[in-house]
Amino acid sequence: MCQQQVAHDTGGEILFYLSVGPELYESIIQNIGAIQPNKGPRRWCSAESNPAARQRIIVEKPFGRDLQSAEHLNRVLGRVFDDDDVFRIDHYLGKETVQNLLVFRFANLLFEPLWNRLYIDHVQITAAETVGVGNRAAYYDSAGAMRDMIQSHLLQLMAVVAMEPPNSFRASDLRSEQRHVLEAVRPIALDEVPRLAVRAQYTRAQIDGAVVPGYREEPGVPANSSCDTFAALKIFIDNWRWEGVPFFLRTGKCMRRKLTQFVINFKPAPHLFRNVDGGEIRPSPNRLVVNVQPDEGISLRFEGKVPGLGLHIQSAVLDFDYRQQFKAEPFEAYATLLLDAIRGNQSLYKDRHEIEAAWRIVMPVLDYWQGHPGQGLAPYPAGSWGPAAADELIKPHGPWRNPETTVSRTEPAAPPDFDLPA
Ligand code: BG6
Repeated sequence: MCQQQVAHDTGGEILFYLSVGPELYESIIQNIGAIQPNKGPRRWCSAESNPAARQRIIVEKPFGRDLQSAEHLNRVLGRVFDDDDVFRIDHYLGKETVQNLLVFRFANLLFEPLWNRLYIDHVQITAAETVGVGNRAAYYDSAGAMRDMIQSHLLQLMAVVAMEPPNSFRASDLRSEQRHVLEAVRPIALDEVPRLAVRAQYTRAQIDGAVVPGYREEPGVPANSSCDTFAALKIFIDNWRWEGVPFFLRTGKCMRRKLTQFVINFKPAPHLFRNVDGGEIRPSPNRLVVNVQPDEGISLRFEGKVPGLGLHIQSAVLDFDYRQQFKAEPFEAYATLLLDAIRGNQSLYKDRHEIEAAWRIVMPVLDYWQGHPGQGLAPYPAGSWGPAAADELIKPHGPWRNPETTVSRTEPAAPPDFDLPA
């Protein structure tokens, strides 16, 4: 047995963590395979003294840069590791609020009957960052927002929002339901890309008196780069639950606020109120907001009567604040995930099929953008909510939810809708 294993009483179990440049993954995995005394998965240096000893590996993102390279990496891993010992990380899955969404959906009877195409108009998923590309241009310029965030984190979040109730919370059940969602996404035809996807790049702007450089002025970024620092995508999931409900995904660097949120927009109530003149009034539809970060929490907008004579209708918000409620800080995502890997729990890790399904969804967009460099690449000023093209994308279903200051502790009051004689 290795000295280190004796010293730390690890019983011969070893966890590799590939947090290195993705170009090194393959050779590292092959070399791990080459030094195994007994060929084949699971064996390591203590295999004879402890036949149950396992070796596991955590693979960081990016997992491939397209479908082909992701499939290849999965094959390379499969030659050395049993799939039960491969942990493909997506740190968004480790976030408390994402795990809480599973509990929220499946431990409460209230929402599940409404969680479908009959009651939901559309779903928005946003992951906005205020930081720019910083010193990561070498990686980021060849990746872009669609690869860096949508292919991985945002599609994974969508899978959690849209999945069917699993048979259990075991890894195999959770992951197969999430995978089914990704596999049901309607394929995007190449000629539909300009209609369903938006790409943009931040430009120089002044924020709070300070000048923020545009993307092309950042260190290491080519002056003619057509890299997307903002991307938005309209997706349909062709299954019984979600047929016809659009999912709008968007992400960007150098945006107005750091914010990751799901917004479930319900359909309007069918009943029409009337004002004194007999005019029709439609109360605002219900809206459920899940703040993944920051201001972790959930809020539900509903309509209420303003106290007083006459009938005024106004939106109100039921609010759940994670910190206040549980008197605890959300646990660090990586701490959860690394501990899970040590314990061999894959529930918050992706399986190979999920990763490949997510690549299949974005490949037509990436192929189209690569074949049409710069076409439709809109500018957006640093510190804004992104380009006008993204507003156009969602327009038929209403605007993006762009909170200006703190996330929804109080919704802006809607103007009184109507007034009937008392
Ligand atoms: C990483 C991306 O996976 O996620 C980064 O490569 C991004 O570009 C980061 O900044 C965002 O993570 P978080 O947890 O800060 O939202």
